[in-house]
Amino acid sequence: MGSTRSSFTGKLGFVLAAAGSAVGLGNIWRFPYLAAKYGGGIFLLVYVALSVTFGFSLMVAEIAIGRKTGKSAVQAFGDLDKRFSFLGLLASVVPILILPYYSVIGGWVTKYFVGFVSGSAQDMAVVESVQVGDKVELVSYFDKYTATVTEPLFWFAVFIGITALVVLFGVEKGIEKVSKVLMPVLIALTVFIACYSIFTIDGAWDGVAYYLKPDFSKFSIMTVVAAMGQLFYSMSLAMGIMITFGSYMKKDINIEKSAKQIELFDTGVAFLAGLMVVPAVFAFSGGDEKALGQGPGLMFVTLPRVFETMTGGTIIGAIFFLMVLLAALTSSISLMETIVSIFMDKFKLGRKMSCLVVLVISALLGVPSALGSSAWANVKILGMQFLDFFDFASNSILMPIVALITTIFVAYIIKPKAVIDEISLTGKFKWKKLFSVIICYVAPICILAILVSAILSAAKVISI
Ligand code: TRP
Repeated sequence: MGSTRSSFTGKLGFVLAAAGSAVGLGNIWRFPYLAAKYGGGIFLLVYVALSVTFGFSLMVAEIAIGRKTGKSAVQAFGDLDKRFSFLGLLASVVPILILPYYSVIGGWVTKYFVGFVSGSAQDMAVVESVQVGDKVELVSYFDKYTATVTEPLFWFAVFIGITALVVLFGVEKGIEKVSKVLMPVLIALTVFIACYSIFTIDGAWDGVAYYLKPDFSKFSIMTVVAAMGQLFYSMSLAMGIMITFGSYMKKDINIEKSAKQIELFDTGVAFLAGLMVVPAVFAFSGGDEKALGQGPGLMFVTLPRVFETMTGGTIIGAIFFLMVLLAALTSSISLMETIVSIFMDKFKLGRKMSCLVVLVISALLGVPSALGSSAWANVKILGMQFLDFFDFASNSILMPIVALITTIFVAYIIKPKAVIDEISLTGKFKWKKLFSVIICYVAPICILAILVSAILSAAKVISI
C-alpha cells in the first residue's frame, strides 16, 4: 500500500466517483435499446432482479477485494492467491475491447451534439421512405451517416483524441468535479424529456405500458443473457474497475451502503433513459417489432424526432447531447486511464508511451467498428458487424467468464468470510446471507448457464 496510494476524501467521494464511471453510454444508449429489443417490461424486471442479487454480490466482493489488498485488479488476485494472477490479466482485457467501440459511439454523440449546435437539428430528424426492390424501407439520417466512410472515422478520432488528451495530462481530479455537476443536470434533463415525450406524443402511453408491464411470453434465455451482460457493462463489473476503486477506499467507509447507492444511481439513470426512448419509439413506430429491435441506432433516430416536435427542441437537444457526451467522456477517460495504468505497471512504460500504445490498439480495433455500416459492411464475424461483435465478445463472453472465475475465487479460495470480514469493518453486513448463498451456489451455476447459452447462440447451434 504505502503512502503513495491516493484515496477518496469525503464519504460521497467514493460513491460519486464510482457512479461517474458507471453512468455513461451504457445507461443512456445501450440500456434503452436492449429494453426495447428484449420485450420492454420483462427485460426491466429481469434486469432489476439480477441487479439486486448478482450485481450487488459481485460489486461488494470486488470492492472488498480491492480495499483488502490495496491493489488494482492485475495484482490483487495474485496477492491473495498466486494461482489466480491470470484472472487480473483476463479482467484487464475487457476494457481494452470496450474502449475502441465505446469511442466509435462517443463519436456519433459528438457528431449529433455538433449537429444540434450548428443548426442541422432538422436534418437529423429526417426519416425517408426509399424504394428497395419492391419494398419500401425507412432510411434515417443516422443510417445515411453511418453509411459514409469518413464521417464516423473522423468523429471517432475526435472523441478518442479528447479522451487521450485528458488522460495524458491527468486531469483526473477534474473529472470528479465535473461529475458532481453533470449527473444532477443529466437526471433533470432525462426526466424532463421523458415527461415531455410521454405527455405530448400520441400513443406514448402504450409505449409506457410496453416498457413497464412485463409480458412473460416475451421471456427467453436471451433476455437473461442480455440483461446480465448489460448489468456487468453498466456497473463496470467483471473487469477489475471496482477492485481498483475499492483500493482507493478508506477503511471507515461502508462498502454495503456504497454499493447500494451506486446501483441505485446507475439503475435509476438507465430506467429514466429507457422511459425517455422506449415510449417514443413505440409511438412513432406504432409498436412495430422491427423498429423496437433496431439496436444501436435507436437513440440517434428517435430522439432527434422527439426534439423536432418540441418548442425549443434544438436547444434542448443540444444540451442533451452535450450531457451524454460529457457522461460518455467521463467513462471513456476512466476506461483509458485503467488500460494506461495497467500498461504502465506491467510493462514499465511511461505515461506518454502507454497512452500512445493504447491509442494505436484502439485505432486498430475501433476503425473496423466505425466502418461496420459502410466500407466493411459485408465483413461479418459470427454474423455480426464489428461493433456488435466487440460488444458481444466483451459483454456476453469475456465478462461472464471473469465473473464466473471471480465468484469461484471468492466462494472457494479466499472464502466468503474474507469479503464479509472486510465489509463488517464498518458495522453489520445486512445482506450477508444473501451474499453468501449467491456467491457460493446461485452465481456460479447461473453464470455458467448464461455463458454456455451465449456461446451456443453465437455459434448458431441454438436459436434463442
Ligand atoms: N459503465 C460504463 C457505462 O455504462 C461503461 C464502462 C464499462 C466503463 N466499463 C467501464 C466505464 C470501465 C468506465 C470504466 O457506460
